This record gives sequence, structure tokens and C-alpha cells, in this order.
Amino acid sequence: MTKTSIIARKSQKSSLATLKGLLPFLAPYKREFILAGIALVVAACATLAIPYAFKQMIDLGFGAAGSKSIRHVDLYFLALFGVACVLAISTAARFYTVSWLGERVTADMRNAVYRHVVTQSPQFFETTQTGEVLSRLTTDTTLIQAVVGTSISMALRNTLLFAGGLAMLFVTSVRLSSIIIVLLAAVVLPIVLFGRRVRKLSRDSQDRIADASAMAGEILNAMPIVQAFTHEAVESGRFGASVENAFKTAMRRIRARSLLTVIAILLVFGAIVFVLWLGAHAVIQGAMTGGELGQFILYAAIVAGSIGALAEVLGEAQRAAGATERLLELMSVRSPIQSPANPLPLPPRIGNGAAVALKDVVFHYPSRPQAASLSHLSLAIEPGETVAVVGPSGAGKTTLFQLLLRFYDPQQGSVTFDGVDIRQLDLHALRDAIGIVPQDTVIFSADAMENIRYGRVDASDEEVIATARMAAAHEFIEKLPQGYRSFLGERGVRLSGGQRQRIAIARAMLKNPPLLLLDEATSALDAESERLVQSALEAAMVGRTTLIIAHRLATVQRADRIIVMESGHIVETGTHASLIALGGIYANLAALQFHANR
Ligand SMILES: Nc1ncnc2c1ncn2[C@@H]1O[C@H](COP(=O)(O)OP(=O)(O)OP(=O)(O)O)[C@@H](O)[C@H]1O
Ligand SMILES: [Mg+2]
Repeated sequence: MTKTSIIARKSQKSSLATLKGLLPFLAPYKREFILAGIALVVAACATLAIPYAFKQMIDLGFGAAGSKSIRHVDLYFLALFGVACVLAISTAARFYTVSWLGERVTADMRNAVYRHVVTQSPQFFETTQTGEVLSRLTTDTTLIQAVVGTSISMALRNTLLFAGGLAMLFVTSVRLSSIIIVLLAAVVLPIVLFGRRVRKLSRDSQDRIADASAMAGEILNAMPIVQAFTHEAVESGRFGASVENAFKTAMRRIRARSLLTVIAILLVFGAIVFVLWLGAHAVIQGAMTGGELGQFILYAAIVAGSIGALAEVLGEAQRAAGATERLLELMSVRSPIQSPANPLPLPPRIGNGAAVALKDVVFHYPSRPQAASLSHLSLAIEPGETVAVVGPSGAGKTTLFQLLLRFYDPQQGSVTFDGVDIRQLDLHALRDAIGIVPQDTVIFSADAMENIRYGRVDASDEEVIATARMAAAHEFIEKLPQGYRSFLGERGVRLSGGQRQRIAIARAMLKNPPLLLLDEATSALDAESERLVQSALEAAMVGRTTLIIAHRLATVQRADRIIVMESGHIVETGTHASLIALGGIYANLAALQFHANR
């Protein structure tokens, strides 16, 4: 069972009271709701007037033969057309306002949910699948759109029609009304119940299609791997089975629907014919006029239609209640990482970069409480210092950067930036002061210029190009088909790994931050490019504090200080020379690397 269907299944039963949660989103549009309400009432009244106008037309127009009849025919046809005009205009007005409301409220909700989700800390994204958030943004909001945009007005309209139609039935003929009420109950109820089943089946078939496309999405993103492992046939088979499954579910729906059609038409027509038959007798016996009978049949149709529509609306509303519940749940998740209510300002910077310190930090990832990724780690970095962090994979190097950016708060100890605990700083002020080149470079589907400009949105083209030169990226970008305007492809697929890294470096340098964090920033570069980038980075390091994580020791030799991490601890500290002299882990690593290189 994939996640789409789990979400859909959850949506079946939810109290309608949950829909109250939508009120804050509806509140700004009171005026539009009132307009829609007026249009709705007018349209319902016009609908209810039609059978009456019809009866007048038949009885007084056709029935009463005589000198007045031509005048009457003209008058009643005119009246009927007048009612039709009112109906047309009010129905269109209702459709317009109500659809507008549906779209507007949905757009507002999508924005609100997205705005909320993008402020969540990484912890949220560790536990929530992106697919689920996307599904809430699209599927759930669409359900709500259906409710606001149609169901509410359908419910109101059909309640009015039901009540009005029922009253008019009894006004027309008490005897026939009593009979038809019983008949309608007998006919409409089974149709409604069976209709529910059909709707459930159609939902199932939508879920199956969603399963298939979710699967296709994942596989299409991993095409090179699929082909390298020659899994094309396997994947096609998997997709085929999924599509076949969707087809079978659809067929179940179609069969049920065909059956429903037969039953509905037979029952409804049977009931109508039966009542018509009774009515015809009444007309022959003179207990009723032909016009009254016509009016009666039309009201009966209106009442039957409104019952069916109300049942449908109820189902929709229930599904929307489920969607609302899930959206509100998503909206109520509060990121554990928040700016304080009264953030302290960063002290004015005196020259060389930021001072950073960690004091006795103990940290484990929220998803892994047993294993500390950093344990009792203390480290103080002077402004302008360049510190290299080395150590085996999984030692906690990247984790250190995550804490500096305050993606997580440590369970114990503190992190300070320019002497201020980062929990007391405004989150944006802190992050604005940090430039990072992450271990996994991220390239957006935009051109090279915009990808670098992401570092500082108000940078001019010239500034972007100058920075690209420093990051040794200018040369290859120039050679792209449209230079800086070349589209880099989804996730930067049109670039090599090293090129992506240089874009990421340029982006961080453009930001010009007092603290620069480089996580394996040059790992994908060849020796020549690395030398170029290295000198660019060295230029960039002047006047700022820099932390470099690197596996290749050649890149860290010139750092002011090298710290060696292992299992969340700092095990050695010193310069390249002093650590070699120490003959510990670093010396071992160095021996291995320089030996292997030889
Ligand atoms: N999001 C996460 N949730 C849970 N555990 C994590 C998470 N990220 C990292 N870890 C764990 O924390 C430990 C430290 O990881 P970290 O990414 O800091 O290592 P690293 O030193 O950067 O390694 P590498 O050199 O391979 O990048 C590892 O044991 C890792 O499995
Ligand atoms: Mg790492």
C-alpha cells in the first residue's frame, strides 16, 4: 500500500465538525458569501416557480379555450420566459461567485500551508515525506475547493429546493404527495446507497492511478541507475502491473455504474409512471386539472433530484472534512527551531569574520536518540581563523555544521556566534551571516546566473560574474551554449559534479558572509580545478572565519588549525606539522593518503 492510498483511506471518515477549521480562511470573504447566498435563493425561487408557471400555462393557456386564450397564451409564455431569464442570470451569478470563492480559498490555503512548511526545521523533513506534503498541497486542497466551490452552494440550493418542492407538492395534491413521498423514499434510498459504493470505487481507481504515477515519478528520476542495472523490463513490468490494477479497479466501477444506471432509470421511471397513472385517473375523474398534474410531476422531480444531490454533497463534505483535518494538522506542526521573541542583536563586527564557539555540546539527531552524533564537544574559533575538520566518515563533521546553522539545537551545551548564544539570535540574522557549500550541492532548475545569484538576490550581473571568476567557474560557464543564461537542467543534471560544486562555491562566496562553511567543497574536482578553486577560496577566506571539512588532506594542510574528529569527539588538534609529529590518527591518515598518492 503506497502513501497516496493511505492518505485517501484516512480521508473516508471524519467528523463534519472539522470543517469549522476552514472558517479562518472563509472569513475574509463575507461579502462574496452574501452575494452568493442571494444569487442562490433567487435561483431556487425561480426553479420552484417554473412548475407553477407551467401549470398556469397549461390550464389557463391551453385548457380554457375561448376568446381570452390567445392573450393568455402570450402572457404566460412571456411569464415563463421571464422566470427562465431570472433563473439563468441568478444561476450564472451563483456559479461565478461560488467558484470564485472556491478557487480563492484554495489558493489562500495552498499559500498558507506552503509558507508554513518552508519554515519547518530539517527534523520535520526527516519524518515527513515530501510526497505527503505535496499530496496535501494538491489533493487535499482540491477536495476543499470542491466543498467551498460547489458543495456548500449545492447543499443550500438543494435544501431550499427540497423544502420548497415538498411544500408545493402538498399544496398541489395531498393524496398524491403522500403516495409519492413513500415511493421516493423507496426509490431514492437504494439509489443513493448504491451510488455511494460507486463513488468509493471511483476514488479507489483514482488512488490506483496515483500509485502508478508515484512509482513512475520515482523511477523516471533514477533513469541512469535503472539502465545501468538493466532494470528497464522489470520497471516496465512493475508499472504495467500497477496500470493493470488501476484498469481492473476502473472496470469494477464501470460495472457497478452500469448496474446503477439500469436500476435508477427503471425505479425512477416506474415511480413516475405509476404516479402519472394515478394522476391520470384523478384528472379523468375531475379531481385534478391537467396542469396540476404537470406541476405535481415537476415538483416531484425537483424533490427527488434534491435528495440525490444532498446525499452526494454529504459524501463530498465528509471527504473534505478529512482533508481539512490533515491540513490543519500540518498547519499546527510548530518547528522546534524558532527565533526568540526578543532576539539579541549581533554585536558590531570589528574586522575579521565571526567568532564561533561550541561549549560541551551533546547532540543526537531526534530520530536517533540512542546514538550521540556529538558528545561533549568543545571548540573555540577566533575571528578570521581557518579551521580544517577531518575525520572518518560518520565522525560528526557535517553535524557540526548543522548545529552552527541552527538546523538543530543541541540537547546539552551551547553554540555561540560572536559571543552570543545562537538560540538568542534572530534565526535569519544568524543564517545570513553564514555561507555554506554543502556536501551535496544543490542546483535549481534555472540558469547559471540565477543559480549563483541565489547567494545574494540583489547582486548585479557583474558581481555574479566576478564571483564566478574567483570560484573558477567563469571559464566553463562561458563555454555553455548560452553562457550565463544556460539552463542547468533539473537538479543541475547538465553539469558535471565538479562544475556543480564550483557553482555552489560561487554562490556561497557571493553572499560574502563573515563565516564560511565548506563541506567537502572541492571533493569532486580534479587536481587542476581544485588548485584553482583552492586559491580562490584562500582569497575568499581573507577577512572571514572559515571551517573546511575535507577528506583529502592536501586541501587542509594550509589551515591555521586542524581538528581531527572521531565518533563525535575531537581527538586531536594542531597544525599539519604538529599533528604529523604527534603520530596519531592524523599522521596515520596522512601516511595512508600520501602513500597511496605516490
Ligand atoms: N538526519 C540524520 N538523522 C539521524 N542520524 C543522522 C542524520 N544525519 C547524520 N546522522 C548520523 O550522525 C552521525 C554523524 O553524521 P555526519 O553527517 O555528521 O558525519 P560526517 O562526519 O559528515 O561523515 P561524512 O564524512 O561521511 O560526510 C552518523 O552516524 C550519521 O549516521
Ligand atoms: Mg558529512
